[in-house]
Amino acid sequence: MQRFIIKGGRRLRGELPLQGSKNSALPIMAATLLCGGECVLTGCPGLTDIYSAARILNYTGCRCTFSENTAAVDSRDIRETSIPEQLMREMRSSIIFMGALLGRTGECIVSIPGGCELGPRPIDMHLAAMRKMGIDIKESGGRIVCRAAAGKAHGARLSLAFPSVGATENIILCAVSAEGETVVNNAAREPEICDLCEFLRQCGADISGDGESRIIINGRNDLHGCEHRIMPDRIAGATYLSMTAATRGEMILSNACISEMEPFLSVLEQTGCSIYTGENRIYLRSGARLKAVSDRIRTMPHPGFPTDAQAVLMAALATADGTSVFEENIFDCRYRHTDALVKMGADIQVLGKVAIVRGVPLLHGASVEATDLRGGAAMVAAALAAEGTTEISRIDHIDRGYEKIEEAVGRLGGEMLRSG
Ligand code: EPZ
Repeated sequence: MQRFIIKGGRRLRGELPLQGSKNSALPIMAATLLCGGECVLTGCPGLTDIYSAARILNYTGCRCTFSENTAAVDSRDIRETSIPEQLMREMRSSIIFMGALLGRTGECIVSIPGGCELGPRPIDMHLAAMRKMGIDIKESGGRIVCRAAAGKAHGARLSLAFPSVGATENIILCAVSAEGETVVNNAAREPEICDLCEFLRQCGADISGDGESRIIINGRNDLHGCEHRIMPDRIAGATYLSMTAATRGEMILSNACISEMEPFLSVLEQTGCSIYTGENRIYLRSGARLKAVSDRIRTMPHPGFPTDAQAVLMAALATADGTSVFEENIFDCRYRHTDALVKMGADIQVLGKVAIVRGVPLLHGASVEATDLRGGAAMVAAALAAEGTTEISRIDHIDRGYEKIEEAVGRLGGEMLRSG
């Protein structure tokens, strides 16, 4: 099992180009199934989750190759619509292939997906929406057998109880080739949904309203392949900026998506960091001290503060002057990183969905285990700021979302090695 060995105490400093977005690339890879042609995705991050998506595509009969941040997918021939449980378990996004396969073939067999353990992650909204679109769904022995009653899904008027990112994506994927019009009310407004819709429009789909809470899709059956550049990863961006703030450093994040990162940047700025933006670059300079954030940091669907940035910002605030309070509103169990931060000397008290972070002067190195993707990244941020050496195990969690993280940190002058 590989580990990261991090020697803390160095201020991060330098320029880093932002990787492409994992959470955008995954649904777009699933969407290539709908085109029945060749698609080229540039700016695709080299991550274990992306390789899992490639394995699913190849299993269905597509030809997916990956080289130098470019994924090429030829989806002319589909021969398999049943995804094995083992592939489904590799990541949460495997469930997105349900909408894409239904859109392309009118049938699929999937199972409950894997992914980070952040509390219960049901797929009831996905299934209810598919049923309204004319899909007959039977669950037996852990398998979910889906078939369009009329051979093809049909449009529907849908209202989501919560703006779920995955459910919105699955509906879009099923609806772009369905018969008639689909209206999704209370749709997720995350930037990655817009990137998916932009990709699909380039393939010939008729979609409007993405980025707002009502999305309208008119089904078509003449989609084709295209070339698309994956948007930058706003959460990886938030992570590297948080690491730099934690070490009281200074950095330029290039290839950044500034407006998409605004909900995070506006909170980070309250710590006293200077932030300047322009021409896809974000410049951050942290003073010698960080201030606690006085307003409660509430995670919310976009354009609220992103749940995926909660852990990494918490690592930076662990050594701020004063007390910051987080409220996690998206997932029931997204404070699993706090035990490791406490082991490193942080003063964090978790009370249900609230975490109270009382800043301490300094963290110290420790031996810790990554609990999930963003929680693991928070441990890296804390380790870089801490006195002494930290060893992080279960780094497979971190590799799911950060492309060569040790090289990125090294580029900023941090000491981080992969061992084993
Ligand atoms: C996506 O997960 C992201 N994953 C997550 O990023 C992100 O944290 C999350 O959206 C919220 O922004 C990908 O894009 C691959 P949801 P998703 O459906 O789609 C409940 C990361 O670190 N819910 O918006 O799974 C659910 O339990 C990952 O990169 C239902 O109850 O999130 C959760 O409490 C982690 N029933 C809430 O909604 C459903 O049918 C939000 O989930 C669906 C969801």
